[in-house]
Amino acid sequence: MNEKHDYRIFSQLLIDLPAMNNANSSAPKVLVIFGTRPEAIKLFPVVRALSAQPALRTVTCVTAQHRQMLDQVLDIAEIRPDHDLDLMRADQSLDELTTRLLQGIGKTLDAVQPQRIIVQGDTATAMCGALAAYYRQIPVSHVEAGLRSYNIYHPWPEEVNRKIIGTIADQHFAPTETSAEALRSENIPENQISITGNTVIDALLVTAEKVGKDIALNPELTALLGRFADRKIIGVTSHRRENFGDGLNQISAALRNIAARDDVALIFPIHLNPNVRAVMNNALGGLDNVAMIEPLDYPNFVGLLGACHFMLTDSGGVQEEAPALGKPVLVMRNTTERPEGVEAGTAKLVGTDPDLIETEACRLLDEQDYYDSMARAHNPFGDGKSSERIADIVAASLTR
Ligand code: UD1
Ligand code: UDP
Repeated sequence: MNEKHDYRIFSQLLIDLPAMNNANSSAPKVLVIFGTRPEAIKLFPVVRALSAQPALRTVTCVTAQHRQMLDQVLDIAEIRPDHDLDLMRADQSLDELTTRLLQGIGKTLDAVQPQRIIVQGDTATAMCGALAAYYRQIPVSHVEAGLRSYNIYHPWPEEVNRKIIGTIADQHFAPTETSAEALRSENIPENQISITGNTVIDALLVTAEKVGKDIALNPELTALLGRFADRKIIGVTSHRRENFGDGLNQISAALRNIAARDDVALIFPIHLNPNVRAVMNNALGGLDNVAMIEPLDYPNFVGLLGACHFMLTDSGGVQEEAPALGKPVLVMRNTTERPEGVEAGTAKLVGTDPDLIETEACRLLDEQDYYDSMARAHNPFGDGKSSERIADIVAASLTR
């Protein structure tokens, strides 16, 4: 892993978290359940906003579906979970993971007895959190509701996870009008839908403001940015389960072809999923201008987003963050549940066909007008105040 940083300095600068559980012991309890890196990034501002609500008690439960990648965010956000189920196993299958999650979260719900739970997004943790709460008739709030690709195998299993959560939840925090409209078309009552923006923009803005000023990038990333200063840097991430096998092989072939150019460098913080690592190490190991590094903590990843020429990714969160920083994104998927970036022209779907990925990457590298048309900072996903809106709605529903 990267050199351990002094996270106390980061967190003082970054988060300034109000005291947790800042209400009296008879106040209603809201349990925030999360387990992976993106959920933690998108929920730390929500936990912060909830903790500032005097009429609530905020309790946190991490499933640790991810371990190291979750802990990177917990450290920086200075969240010490009240419950840590420590569920991750190496190379876990979906059915094993789901079983452990359902049982572990169920026991936690029985112990905590919250008046409401909050889940985010579309992971196995979020789906099992909603289901375990439903089995106990505890109401569910869904952060980042209404994203739909309308293809249950892309992304897989996330499209079905979020539909299950959508069926159970009675508070749907839709990031955009498009996601709200998807919920309406599924007959979710209007009074259960709130367009709040996506909390990832809250996390991004508070972090980006500090990076490079109050927070220095880590020595490894700093050295790489120096070493590649005369090249165009392409930031890369890839981890989708539906791409395992042919898809990842094709992506790795495309990256190898792009790296054959002498004017580019690829910085690729590799997801800890062993299925991703094996393929990428085989295809890209030993190339001087491809830096495969350990997952970056959030401020350093935001630093990479700021420094790169563009991003090549299959990540959901990166599709939301890059446009906010004016970075073009080539999305290595056939569909997206986040059409806003594509519609605005800052993101483009390139699938996993190696020729198309390479062609589109070369257009961004070679055609300045084309690059400029995609490199416009805009924020279709939020204004940085989503978490406060969510906390206000949750508090109002529990205290009226
Ligand atoms: C999960 C989510 C996916 C989300 C992604 C974010 C599901 C089914 N998938 O996919 O929606 O986009 O997280 O990254 O919920 N591992 C580690 N350490 C870590 C994290 C992962 O070693 O900190 C390895 C383990 O071997 C683990 C494997 O990665 O078994 C897969 O983790 P898992 O959470 O099941 O799936 P992801 O592919 O990470
Ligand atoms: N991210 C990070 N370090 C990395 C790669 C990504 O902090 O090395 C952040 C990124 O900024 C985004 C989130 O992790 O907020 C995306 O997570 P991931 O791609 O694992 O999941 P997805 O968004 O696809 O569910």
